[in-house]
Amino acid sequence: MNYENILTATQNGITTITINRPSKLNALNKATIEELHEAFDTANKDENTKVIIVTGSGEKAFVAGADISEFANFSVENGGKLAAKGQELLFDFVENLSTPVIAAVNGFALGGGLELAMACHFRVASDNAKMGLPEVSLGVIPGYGGTQRLPQLVGKGRAMELVMTAGMIDAQTALNYGLVNHVVSQEELLPLAEKIAGKIMRNSSVAISKAIKAVNANYKDGIDGFKVEIEQFGACFGTEDFKEGTTAFLEKRKADFPGK
Ligand code: COA
Repeated sequence: MNYENILTATQNGITTITINRPSKLNALNKATIEELHEAFDTANKDENTKVIIVTGSGEKAFVAGADISEFANFSVENGGKLAAKGQELLFDFVENLSTPVIAAVNGFALGGGLELAMACHFRVASDNAKMGLPEVSLGVIPGYGGTQRLPQLVGKGRAMELVMTAGMIDAQTALNYGLVNHVVSQEELLPLAEKIAGKIMRNSSVAISKAIKAVNANYKDGIDGFKVEIEQFGACFGTEDFKEGTTAFLEKRKADFPGK
Protein backbone atom coordinates (compact mmCIF):
# COMPACT_ATOMS: atom_id res chain seq x y z
CA MET A 1 0.00 0.00 0.00
CA ASN A 2 1.18 3.51 -0.84
CA TYR A 3 1.08 6.08 1.90
CA GLU A 4 1.65 9.83 1.68
CA ASN A 5 2.81 10.54 5.21
CA ILE A 6 4.47 7.34 6.35
CA LEU A 7 6.89 4.72 5.06
CA THR A 8 6.68 1.02 5.83
CA ALA A 9 9.19 -1.75 5.25
CA THR A 10 9.14 -5.40 6.31
CA GLN A 11 12.35 -7.37 6.64
CA ASN A 12 13.46 -10.33 8.76
CA GLY A 13 10.19 -10.41 10.71
CA ILE A 14 10.23 -6.70 11.55
CA THR A 15 7.91 -4.10 10.08
CA THR A 16 9.33 -0.60 10.49
CA ILE A 17 6.82 2.23 10.25
CA THR A 18 8.45 5.63 9.74
CA ILE A 19 6.40 8.80 10.13
CA ASN A 20 7.56 10.86 7.20
CA ARG A 21 6.66 14.56 7.39
CA PRO A 22 10.10 15.88 8.34
CA SER A 23 9.34 19.45 7.22
CA LYS A 24 6.60 19.52 9.90
CA LEU A 25 8.71 17.56 12.38
CA ASN A 26 6.44 14.57 11.68
CA ALA A 27 3.43 16.25 13.35
CA LEU A 28 0.37 14.01 13.41
CA ASN A 29 -2.35 15.38 11.17
CA LYS A 30 -5.62 13.51 10.52
CA ALA A 31 -4.31 11.85 7.35
CA THR A 32 -1.17 10.61 9.14
CA ILE A 33 -3.21 9.15 11.99
CA GLU A 34 -5.44 7.32 9.51
CA GLU A 35 -2.43 5.99 7.58
CA LEU A 36 -0.77 4.88 10.80
CA HIS A 37 -3.94 3.00 11.77
CA GLU A 38 -3.92 1.23 8.42
CA ALA A 39 -0.20 0.41 8.61
CA PHE A 40 -0.34 -0.92 12.19
CA ASP A 41 -3.44 -2.98 11.38
CA THR A 42 -1.80 -4.44 8.27
CA ALA A 43 1.44 -5.26 10.10
CA ASN A 44 -0.48 -6.83 12.99
CA LYS A 45 -2.34 -9.13 10.61
CA ASP A 46 0.79 -9.99 8.59
CA GLU A 47 2.13 -13.46 9.43
CA ASN A 48 5.65 -12.35 8.49
CA THR A 49 5.66 -9.50 11.01
CA LYS A 50 6.72 -10.55 14.49
CA VAL A 51 7.66 -7.10 15.83
CA ILE A 52 6.73 -3.57 14.77
CA ILE A 53 9.13 -0.63 15.20
CA VAL A 54 7.81 2.92 14.87
CA THR A 55 10.12 5.88 14.37
CA GLY A 56 10.29 9.33 12.77
CA SER A 57 12.10 10.37 9.61
CA GLY A 58 14.93 12.87 9.71
CA GLU A 59 17.36 13.48 12.54
CA LYS A 60 15.33 15.99 14.48
CA ALA A 61 12.00 14.52 15.47
CA PHE A 62 10.11 11.37 16.32
CA VAL A 63 6.85 13.35 16.29
CA ALA A 64 6.53 16.99 17.45
CA GLY A 65 2.89 16.53 18.42
CA ALA A 66 -0.55 16.66 16.96
CA ASP A 67 -0.71 19.05 14.01
CA ILE A 68 -1.61 22.32 15.72
CA SER A 69 -2.67 23.95 12.44
CA GLU A 70 -5.50 21.43 12.08
CA PHE A 71 -7.26 22.03 15.39
CA ALA A 72 -6.56 25.70 16.11
CA ASN A 73 -10.17 26.67 15.19
CA PHE A 74 -12.00 23.70 16.70
CA SER A 75 -15.18 23.97 18.83
CA VAL A 76 -15.71 22.13 22.14
CA GLU A 77 -17.54 19.37 20.28
CA ASN A 78 -14.85 19.00 17.62
CA GLY A 79 -12.12 18.98 20.27
CA GLY A 80 -13.77 16.07 22.07
CA LYS A 81 -14.26 14.19 18.82
CA LEU A 82 -10.61 14.75 17.83
CA ALA A 83 -9.36 13.11 21.02
CA ALA A 84 -11.88 10.25 20.90
CA LYS A 85 -11.19 9.41 17.26
CA GLY A 86 -7.40 9.61 17.69
CA GLN A 87 -7.45 7.39 20.77
CA GLU A 88 -9.59 4.82 18.99
CA LEU A 89 -7.70 4.79 15.69
CA LEU A 90 -4.15 5.02 16.94
CA PHE A 91 -3.27 5.24 20.61
CA ASP A 92 -5.54 2.59 22.19
CA PHE A 93 -5.26 0.62 18.98
CA VAL A 94 -1.45 0.40 19.19
CA GLU A 95 -1.45 -0.39 22.91
CA ASN A 96 -3.80 -3.32 22.36
CA LEU A 97 -2.12 -4.84 19.30
CA SER A 98 -1.13 -8.48 19.68
CA THR A 99 2.20 -7.83 17.91
CA PRO A 100 4.88 -6.16 20.06
CA VAL A 101 5.43 -2.49 19.17
CA ILE A 102 8.71 -0.72 19.99
CA ALA A 103 8.96 3.08 19.72
CA ALA A 104 12.40 4.21 18.52
CA VAL A 105 12.34 7.83 19.70
CA ASN A 106 14.88 9.61 17.48
CA GLY A 107 14.36 13.26 18.47
CA PHE A 108 11.49 15.45 19.71
CA ALA A 109 8.60 13.39 21.07
CA LEU A 110 6.16 16.06 22.16
CA GLY A 111 2.44 16.03 22.86
CA GLY A 112 0.86 13.43 20.56
CA GLY A 113 4.38 12.23 19.73
CA LEU A 114 5.15 11.28 23.30
CA GLU A 115 1.60 9.93 23.61
CA LEU A 116 2.25 7.67 20.60
CA ALA A 117 5.56 6.50 22.08
CA MET A 118 3.80 5.80 25.40
CA ALA A 119 1.06 3.80 23.66
CA CYS A 120 3.77 1.51 22.25
CA HIS A 121 4.71 -1.51 24.37
CA PHE A 122 8.09 0.02 25.26
CA ARG A 123 10.50 2.73 24.12
CA VAL A 124 14.16 3.16 23.22
CA ALA A 125 15.61 6.61 22.53
CA SER A 126 18.55 8.34 20.89
CA ASP A 127 20.63 10.66 23.04
CA ASN A 128 19.28 13.76 21.28
CA ALA A 129 15.66 12.88 22.12
CA LYS A 130 13.54 15.40 24.01
CA MET A 131 10.22 14.46 25.51
CA GLY A 132 7.32 16.39 26.95
CA LEU A 133 3.63 17.15 27.00
CA PRO A 134 3.51 20.90 26.16
CA GLU A 135 -0.28 21.06 25.66
CA VAL A 136 -1.06 23.42 28.56
CA SER A 137 1.23 25.98 26.92
CA LEU A 138 -1.34 25.97 24.08
CA GLY A 139 -4.35 26.13 26.42
CA VAL A 140 -5.34 22.48 26.07
CA ILE A 141 -4.46 19.27 27.89
CA PRO A 142 -2.98 16.06 26.48
CA GLY A 143 -5.87 14.33 24.69
CA TYR A 144 -4.36 11.19 23.25
CA GLY A 145 -3.96 9.34 26.54
CA GLY A 146 -1.04 11.36 27.94
CA THR A 147 -2.66 12.18 31.29
CA GLN A 148 -3.21 8.45 31.84
CA ARG A 149 -0.11 6.79 30.43
CA LEU A 150 2.53 9.26 31.66
CA PRO A 151 1.67 8.73 35.38
CA GLN A 152 1.53 4.97 34.75
CA LEU A 153 5.09 5.06 33.40
CA VAL A 154 6.84 7.70 35.54
CA GLY A 155 4.61 8.15 38.62
CA LYS A 156 2.04 10.82 39.43
CA GLY A 157 4.35 13.51 40.79
CA ARG A 158 6.76 13.52 37.85
CA ALA A 159 3.84 13.38 35.40
CA MET A 160 2.10 16.30 37.11
CA GLU A 161 5.28 18.39 36.96
CA LEU A 162 5.88 17.61 33.28
CA VAL A 163 2.27 18.36 32.34
CA MET A 164 1.98 21.53 34.44
CA THR A 165 5.32 23.05 33.38
CA ALA A 166 4.86 21.98 29.72
CA GLY A 167 8.57 21.25 30.01
CA MET A 168 10.80 18.87 28.11
CA ILE A 169 13.11 16.23 29.54
CA ASP A 170 16.20 14.91 27.81
CA ALA A 171 16.85 11.27 26.98
CA GLN A 172 18.96 10.65 30.08
CA THR A 173 16.22 11.99 32.37
CA ALA A 174 13.64 9.91 30.50
CA LEU A 175 15.87 6.88 31.12
CA ASN A 176 16.13 7.74 34.83
CA TYR A 177 12.33 8.12 34.98
CA GLY A 178 11.77 4.74 33.32
CA LEU A 179 10.01 6.41 30.41
CA VAL A 180 12.47 4.83 27.96
CA ASN A 181 14.34 1.56 28.45
CA HIS A 182 17.63 2.37 26.68
CA VAL A 183 19.46 5.42 25.32
CA VAL A 184 22.02 5.16 22.51
CA SER A 185 23.39 7.40 19.76
CA GLN A 186 21.16 8.14 16.80
CA GLU A 187 23.08 5.73 14.51
CA GLU A 188 22.72 2.95 17.06
CA LEU A 189 18.99 3.47 17.65
CA LEU A 190 17.38 1.33 14.93
CA PRO A 191 20.05 -1.39 15.22
CA LEU A 192 19.30 -1.55 18.96
CA ALA A 193 15.53 -1.74 18.39
CA GLU A 194 16.15 -4.47 15.81
CA LYS A 195 18.42 -6.37 18.18
CA ILE A 196 15.73 -6.35 20.87
CA ALA A 197 13.15 -7.35 18.24
CA GLY A 198 15.42 -10.29 17.35
CA LYS A 199 15.38 -11.49 20.96
CA ILE A 200 11.58 -11.16 21.08
CA MET A 201 11.20 -13.15 17.86
CA ARG A 202 12.93 -16.20 19.30
CA ASN A 203 9.96 -16.66 21.63
CA SER A 204 6.39 -17.78 21.08
CA SER A 205 4.42 -15.02 19.33
CA VAL A 206 1.19 -16.55 20.64
CA ALA A 207 2.43 -16.46 24.24
CA ILE A 208 3.69 -12.89 23.74
CA SER A 209 0.29 -11.73 22.48
CA LYS A 210 -1.33 -13.24 25.58
CA ALA A 211 1.28 -11.61 27.82
CA ILE A 212 0.50 -8.21 26.25
CA LYS A 213 -3.20 -8.74 27.03
CA ALA A 214 -2.44 -9.71 30.63
CA VAL A 215 -0.04 -6.81 31.29
CA ASN A 216 -2.45 -4.30 29.71
CA ALA A 217 -5.27 -5.63 31.90
CA ASN A 218 -3.51 -4.09 34.89
CA TYR A 219 -4.23 -0.65 33.44
CA LYS A 220 -7.89 -1.08 32.52
CA ASP A 221 -10.61 0.13 34.85
CA GLY A 222 -12.95 -2.50 36.20
CA ILE A 223 -10.86 -5.40 34.92
CA ASP A 224 -9.21 -7.89 37.26
CA GLY A 225 -5.73 -8.33 35.79
CA PHE A 226 -5.03 -11.44 37.85
CA LYS A 227 -8.15 -13.05 36.39
CA VAL A 228 -7.09 -12.10 32.86
CA GLU A 229 -3.63 -13.58 33.57
CA ILE A 230 -5.17 -16.87 34.74
CA GLU A 231 -7.37 -17.07 31.61
CA GLN A 232 -4.51 -16.23 29.25
CA PHE A 233 -2.14 -18.62 31.07
CA GLY A 234 -4.68 -21.44 30.74
CA ALA A 235 -5.28 -20.68 27.06
CA CYS A 236 -1.56 -21.14 26.33
CA PHE A 237 -1.88 -24.85 27.13
CA GLY A 238 -4.05 -25.31 24.04
CA THR A 239 -1.52 -23.82 21.62
CA GLU A 240 0.93 -25.52 19.27
CA ASP A 241 3.62 -23.10 20.49
CA PHE A 242 3.26 -24.45 24.03
CA LYS A 243 3.65 -28.04 22.81
CA GLU A 244 6.73 -27.08 20.79
CA GLY A 245 8.27 -24.95 23.57
CA THR A 246 7.95 -27.60 26.27
CA THR A 247 8.88 -30.50 23.95
CA ALA A 248 11.97 -28.65 22.71
CA PHE A 249 13.06 -27.98 26.29
CA LEU A 250 12.67 -31.63 27.28
CA GLU A 251 14.49 -32.74 24.11
CA LYS A 252 17.27 -30.23 24.86
CA ARG A 253 16.91 -28.42 21.54
CA LYS A 254 15.96 -24.91 20.44
CA ALA A 255 12.23 -24.38 19.98
CA ASP A 256 10.95 -23.71 16.49
CA PHE A 257 7.62 -22.05 17.22
CA PRO A 258 4.88 -22.39 14.60
CA GLY A 259 3.21 -19.21 15.94
CA LYS A 260 -0.12 -20.96 16.48
N1 COA B 1 2.02 20.99 14.57
C1 COA B 1 2.14 21.58 13.36
N2 COA B 1 3.31 22.00 12.87
C2 COA B 1 4.41 21.77 13.60
C3 COA B 1 4.36 21.15 14.88
C4 COA B 1 3.09 20.76 15.35
N3 COA B 1 2.94 20.14 16.53
N4 COA B 1 5.62 21.11 15.39
C5 COA B 1 6.43 21.65 14.47
N5 COA B 1 5.70 22.07 13.39
C6 COA B 1 6.19 22.71 12.17
C7 COA B 1 6.52 24.17 12.41
O1 COA B 1 5.35 24.96 12.32
C8 COA B 1 7.49 24.43 11.28
O2 COA B 1 6.75 24.56 10.07
P1 COA B 1 7.09 25.77 9.03
O3 COA B 1 8.53 25.53 8.63
O4 COA B 1 6.12 25.56 7.92
O5 COA B 1 6.91 27.03 9.79
C9 COA B 1 8.27 23.12 11.18
O6 COA B 1 7.44 22.14 11.79
C10 COA B 1 9.60 23.15 11.91
O7 COA B 1 9.37 23.54 13.25
P2 COA B 1 10.12 24.74 13.98
O8 COA B 1 9.26 25.23 15.09
O9 COA B 1 10.57 25.75 12.96
O10 COA B 1 11.41 23.98 14.54
P3 COA B 1 12.30 24.41 15.81
O11 COA B 1 13.49 23.54 15.76
O12 COA B 1 12.48 25.87 15.86
O13 COA B 1 11.40 23.99 17.10
C11 COA B 1 9.97 22.56 18.40
C12 COA B 1 11.13 22.65 17.37
C13 COA B 1 9.60 21.08 18.51
C14 COA B 1 10.44 23.08 19.75
C15 COA B 1 8.77 23.38 17.91
O14 COA B 1 8.49 23.02 16.55
C16 COA B 1 7.51 23.21 18.70
O15 COA B 1 7.40 23.74 19.78
N6 COA B 1 6.51 22.48 18.14
C17 COA B 1 5.23 22.32 18.76
C18 COA B 1 5.32 21.31 19.89
C19 COA B 1 3.98 21.15 20.56
O16 COA B 1 3.46 22.05 21.19
N7 COA B 1 3.39 19.96 20.43
C20 COA B 1 2.17 19.62 21.06
C21 COA B 1 1.04 19.80 20.15
S1 COA B 1 -0.50 19.40 20.97
